[in-house]
Amino acid sequence: MSEMVHFTELGLANTRQMFAQAFAGGYAIPAYNFNNLEQLQAIITACAETGSPVIIQVSKGAREYANATMLRYMALGAVKMAREMGSTIPVCLHLDHGDSFEICKSCVDNGFSSVMIDGSHLPYDENVALTRKVVEYAHQFDVTVEGELGVLAGIEDEVQAAASTYTKPEEVEDFVKKTGVDSLAISIGTSHGAYKFKLKPGESVPPLRFDILEEVEKRIPGFPIVLHGASSVVQDYVTLINQYGGKMDGAVGVPEEQLRKAAKSAVCKINIDSDGRLVVTAKVREYLANHPGEFDPRKYLGAARKELTELLKHKNETVLGSAGKA
Ligand code: G3H
Ligand code: 13P
Ligand code: ZN
Repeated sequence: MSEMVHFTELGLANTRQMFAQAFAGGYAIPAYNFNNLEQLQAIITACAETGSPVIIQVSKGAREYANATMLRYMALGAVKMAREMGSTIPVCLHLDHGDSFEICKSCVDNGFSSVMIDGSHLPYDENVALTRKVVEYAHQFDVTVEGELGVLAGIEDEVQAAASTYTKPEEVEDFVKKTGVDSLAISIGTSHGAYKFKLKPGESVPPLRFDILEEVEKRIPGFPIVLHGASSVVQDYVTLINQYGGKMDGAVGVPEEQLRKAAKSAVCKINIDSDGRLVVTAKVREYLANHPGEFDPRKYLGAARKELTELLKHKNETVLGSAGKA
């Protein structure tokens, strides 16, 4: 077992000040998922170059893939890399979709500055109890906690975001008060993955449920809200993937204008994973198809990293509004 480390020893920041400033400034902090070196380099380069605060987040699966100790030092390296670029951007290391007290505790003990406990699938009272337990532990170390109310539709679901899965605004005040969470993820029509909406020919993406968001804002004024499942599924990359041997029919995401609108509201954190995956896959496919004799991973991963950096800069500048806010 690795020794305990506090996030401040890694140069990391929790989300408290980031969210207070995002709320006041009408923008959202980008929360980008990463699993490997090239993704993390792209995130740090894009955020340092645009002067954006950033949340680098890892899922349970990413933690298993990359190794918890490795991740700790990758985060330390990410902060140092930003500083060597002359950037003072705050960097938060966040656990995405923690599903137990134990994994949240392990992340707190391993230098994470923020954790999510996702009890959204549990009955309400069990979600409250589990979230409260994580908050009690994490707050001892000044680690901030994200909870969730309402279930995002799964990518396999036939019916996307059925009414019963949206966040119930009448529950949020009680949940926030009883648990002591620092931010709350809500369900207003987004979903994870690259197939967010099933559209018939000629149909366009339905608007997110901004009415639910407004109701939530009224009940917990000034409280930071988190939007999961916020990839736009950029069609240029889907086209490239399909052009170079992939098969991603009907992949569609949340239009950028809707995310921009959300970022101006109480939404202080916007989670993006799938868009990063799409860029990497598209550029690796393209590179290998055009350079069939190439076998140096630095070449095709380097091409992917470059394009990912550009996409994330674009998101900070024109979608989240976080550029220049660090
Ligand atoms: O919300 C889920 C994230 O996109 C992480 O996905 O569990 O495949 O790493 P993952
Ligand atoms: P996307 O699949 O839309 O990128 O959502 C990512 C996410 O919510 C991670 O928690
Ligand atoms: Zn998520």
